[in-house]
Amino acid sequence: MNDCIQRVTGRGGLPEIHIHNDAASAEICLMGAHVLSYCPTGEKEVLFLSEKSAFAQTGPAIRGGVPVCWPWFGPAPREELPNATTSHGFARQMMWELVEQREVSPMRTEVTLALHDTPESLAIWPHRFELRLAISVGATLELSLTTINVDETPFAIAQALHTYFSIGDVNSLEVNGFDGLKFIDKAPAEPPAANPQVGSIRITEETDRIYLGHAGRAVICDFVHERQLVIDKSNSHTSVVWNPWVAKSQRMPDFGDEEFHKMVCVETCNVANDAVMLVPGMSHTLTAVISVQHCR
Ligand code: BG6
Repeated sequence: MNDCIQRVTGRGGLPEIHIHNDAASAEICLMGAHVLSYCPTGEKEVLFLSEKSAFAQTGPAIRGGVPVCWPWFGPAPREELPNATTSHGFARQMMWELVEQREVSPMRTEVTLALHDTPESLAIWPHRFELRLAISVGATLELSLTTINVDETPFAIAQALHTYFSIGDVNSLEVNGFDGLKFIDKAPAEPPAANPQVGSIRITEETDRIYLGHAGRAVICDFVHERQLVIDKSNSHTSVVWNPWVAKSQRMPDFGDEEFHKMVCVETCNVANDAVMLVPGMSHTLTAVISVQHCR
């Protein structure tokens, strides 16, 4: 193991990789290839992690950080896949393997985690696959999720890098980059929110939207921490913006009742009309690049 990369037994006895270089530090759990923490040197933590999160060998996925949602998004598609029980796929609840590690420079460290089909996954989702998450830690956090179809028939995937961002106060926040875009509203409000989006997103109630045709930058303006959290991406034409607000927070056993004040999810996706079809031998890479900029 290189100097910047340490393998440790982490929360709940789960294996974690800790990275510390001159530009940033990060913590990654092999369960789900789940990035738990990312902190550029001298900055505040970028990712939100619930104090009530489970860290379990079997059971609920980790609440916070960057869950990898794959190969479906949202509730288990029981009609199509009778053995599917978990929301957002199964990849976030399986143990991945560290397959590559590299100190690119004193300022950047890269690790790659991999997951393959298993008898357990084939019983849920009957396709042979190879999945890789390349995690590059430096002044930016770069996540590249590659799916390879190693089967003999085509398959479709929906996926998300379901990033929970740590914010000062949800009431002092704007999310930009979505002006003029239509969205699927999964938490319809009374009266319904203006759709397409007009200007900035301000979160004042439960918000759960799939923005369609979103291929560019998203910017979270955190007026309390006086910083912008910037998400650039490639091979993605949908993004989800989520905050559970009061009632849903109370219904979630692994999330504190008041924690919705301190987080917002801006998720880099291939969901809804942006799902990806892969023929045998074909691969697809979804990338998110996260950076911090200071407001002047
Ligand atoms: C978001 C969905 O991506 O994830 C929400 O749009 C969902 O509908 C949220 O509630 C959390 O999902 P889970 O399965 O981690 O509780």
